[in-house]
Amino acid sequence: MATARLTLDPRRRIGPINRRMFGSFVEHLGRCVYDGIYEPGHEDADAAGFRNDVKELIKELGISTVRYPGGNFVSGFKWEDSVGPVEHRPKRLDLAWHSTETNEVGLHEFASWLEEVGGELMLAVNLGTRGTQEALELLEYCNLPFGTALAQERALNRRDKPFDIKMWCLGNEMDGPWQIGHRSADDYGKLASQTAKAMRQLDPSIELVACGSSSADMPTFGEWERVVLGHTYDDVDYISCHAYYEIKDGDLGSFLASAANMDRFIDSVTATADHIRAVRGSNKTLNISFDEWNVWYNERFEKVDKITGIDNWPIAPRLLEDTYTVVDAVVVGNLLISLLNHADRVTSASLAQLVNVIAPIMTEPGGPSWKQTTFFPFALTSNNAHGLALDTGIESDTYDTSAHGTVRTVDAAATYNPEDGTASVFLVNRSTDQPSTITIDTGHLGEVRIVDARTLTDPDVYASNTLSQRDRVRLQPLESLEEHKGSITVTLPPVAWAAVLLETTPRP
Ligand code: AHR
Repeated sequence: MATARLTLDPRRRIGPINRRMFGSFVEHLGRCVYDGIYEPGHEDADAAGFRNDVKELIKELGISTVRYPGGNFVSGFKWEDSVGPVEHRPKRLDLAWHSTETNEVGLHEFASWLEEVGGELMLAVNLGTRGTQEALELLEYCNLPFGTALAQERALNRRDKPFDIKMWCLGNEMDGPWQIGHRSADDYGKLASQTAKAMRQLDPSIELVACGSSSADMPTFGEWERVVLGHTYDDVDYISCHAYYEIKDGDLGSFLASAANMDRFIDSVTATADHIRAVRGSNKTLNISFDEWNVWYNERFEKVDKITGIDNWPIAPRLLEDTYTVVDAVVVGNLLISLLNHADRVTSASLAQLVNVIAPIMTEPGGPSWKQTTFFPFALTSNNAHGLALDTGIESDTYDTSAHGTVRTVDAAATYNPEDGTASVFLVNRSTDQPSTITIDTGHLGEVRIVDARTLTDPDVYASNTLSQRDRVRLQPLESLEEHKGSITVTLPPVAWAAVLLETTPRP
């Protein structure tokens, strides 16, 4: 049995939680858009062809921003192809995913759909095959109220009011050799700075994200951030981080501690940004947009899914359709814990992706939609982490991993909403074979009432939800809670994630 102890004290603030931390990502990749959110022939489709059942699941998931339209896809994308009458839109090759893009769903359709599901559009510009001019034209088309040819074109395309998009990504993963238009940090930094300055001249209200590293394992990691921010520090608001995790060589203990890697990644990028701030004598604090994160069985994609051949460019092929297990969901819950524990600097993040493609929601063409295991920790965290992230001062037993060194067996995050006195605790037991008993010191919160407590765990840690067994894995009530004066104890089985939701009445 491992043990851990943490404290809930509203005075120990990490920072306010920005709703943009619970963003997601829709890329024109595989069946994320076509046969995912959009399937005109489906019995549950609306008049525009978007599936109502998927919309409902997305609302339940509780997402904020949605990054669009890529991803690697954006680095070869001409946005003009995706506006205007659908019947005139060209079919194009998508070199990133070796597919055909029909442009049936474009900027207008996606933006309207997103308004309906209640999300904020975060748009990426193509800095792979294109540059500053095209980024400016897209911004003008989207955000200029009236008075120019592009604003007029938008109005003619039945959108009089501007889209008024605030969050803009300056390209995607430009450090990655796989990226179309991949550049050195120096070249990208100059291009991003020039593009950012020009975009701000057009619309000073926008927020800009410079590309950071595609993973902390990139050979250029660290130096990339230093050089790019050396060029762009004054021009952008965020540097991005991307990270995907998977079990390697069956090493479950290391995989369960993936959030230790995310913690270090965020701390390193923050340190680099703050170094640039010091060198420049700047007063500005640059934040992180962790705009791609998830579990992704990338090895399987490389070996099984990858499409090749000059005569083989399918429309909406099944790509990156990972089926997630209980272990994967525990890791996803822990990655959210890591983001919350960095709420002072991670003010935007996107779970990659939303539907079918490494996604919490799956669909079958002409058939049902369902929740993957990873849906549950995301939904519960997003819907209950409000107000302030608290520093829990967690003390836990530890274990050794080959990938991340010695790590805590139990990890935790806590939130407190001063507006209504609610608090939440998110917990994970990373042990593969031991239960953990966790003591939560609630004495600083005054009177405390447990409102709800749920856990995601299963005797079969590799259980998953599939088309034939869509409800195999679901949240369960957390029954091991014991309330004491000034504390709560919880015992979690091995490989478990849990959320404890509280109401508090501060002492007079
Ligand atoms: O999310 C899948 C892909 O992962 C994205 O297109 C790319 O940005 C990243 O490498």
